[in-house]
Amino acid sequence: MSTILITGGTGLIGSALAVKLIAEGHHVVTLTRKKGKVEQRLAGLCEEAIWDINSRQVDEVAIAKADYIIHLAGAGISEKRWTDKRKKIIRDSRIKSSELIAHALHVIPNKIRAVVSASAVGWYGPDIASSAGKSFNETAAPGNDFLGETCRLWEQSIGEVARQGTRLVIVRTGIVLDNKGGALPEFRKSLRLGIAAILGSGKQMISWIHIDDLCRIYLKAIDDENMIGTFNAVAPAPVSNRSLTLELARRVRGPNFLAVHVPAFALRIIFGEMSIEVLKSCSVSAEKIMAKGFRFLYPDIESALNALLRRPRGSGSARDE
Ligand SMILES: NC(=O)c1ccc[n+]([C@@H]2O[C@H](COP(=O)([O-])OP(=O)(O)OC[C@H]3O[C@@H](n4cnc5c(N)ncnc54)[C@H](OP(=O)(O)O)[C@@H]3O)[C@@H](O)[C@H]2O)c1
Repeated sequence: MSTILITGGTGLIGSALAVKLIAEGHHVVTLTRKKGKVEQRLAGLCEEAIWDINSRQVDEVAIAKADYIIHLAGAGISEKRWTDKRKKIIRDSRIKSSELIAHALHVIPNKIRAVVSASAVGWYGPDIASSAGKSFNETAAPGNDFLGETCRLWEQSIGEVARQGTRLVIVRTGIVLDNKGGALPEFRKSLRLGIAAILGSGKQMISWIHIDDLCRIYLKAIDDENMIGTFNAVAPAPVSNRSLTLELARRVRGPNFLAVHVPAFALRIIFGEMSIEVLKSCSVSAEKIMAKGFRFLYPDIESALNALLRRPRGSGSARDE
């Protein structure tokens, strides 16, 4: 049994991961800004410890007893419009928190064996039309947009723990598909009205991953001492926005939906600068993690949606009411 400290452990990925870690017999401590935020299903099962990245305070006992740190904390990327103020919060919450972890591990006596940190496929720029069919691997340079620069600074700041000699794994994560939150419930919203909203041309590729596969990558990153450095966490088969939208619509509504293109200019008005991410085609490779022996349970969008839209027996179809 190991003690695993999860920053941002109250979020979508952290909660799912904590459930799996506890089931495997590990002791989980969530490092949070405010106690009492763990999901109901985790209440009483994991310990809570406090940190404050602005005043650079962190629970020293939690750091001292951790065997592993999983660093997920960060303000929601798509939660709010990207004003200058919001962009600073998005950046600071990742960079200052990473710096605080590195500093804490430097000054507090500890027994840490590895740090596993989130990053995002927002690292990459858009697919290049001339290299159609090729996907980004981990050696590609960061894109020169807000997320590319944010991910670069995020990975650079947590990189300090590796420079101190601790094994560091960076999990460059695609769009996470889960019923409990994130992109999937957003994609389903307009389906309640019978509308399948294809964004822009719909041709842009989305690099995604099923929540269970992502958790399995984090578990592997802890267990496998040969995993060092950056790994893309995306299913091997990216999907176009159009295919994902229509596949989802068919499964949720049968034939009863209307496919509507939301033009790019409208998305620019609705989302502002964030529309870059909605409209960007980004095909990311899963080869490196697969070469480490990782096998996806949900390698393609059909198998992922089958699992996510499955309903317990007797609860009706997957249709939205
Ligand atoms: N979900 C995705 O599709 C996806 C894709 C790529 C990368 N990622 C990355 O993976 C990480 C976890 O994602 P998630 O979907 O689980 O995120 P989430 O549900 O938004 O949870 C993130 C957690 O970070 C903490 N947090 C929020 N704002 C903060 C702030 N200003 N300062 C410090 N901590 C803050 C919160 O924990 P407390 O309130 O307990 O402090 C929150 O529960 C994130 O860094 C995200 O960028 C996610």
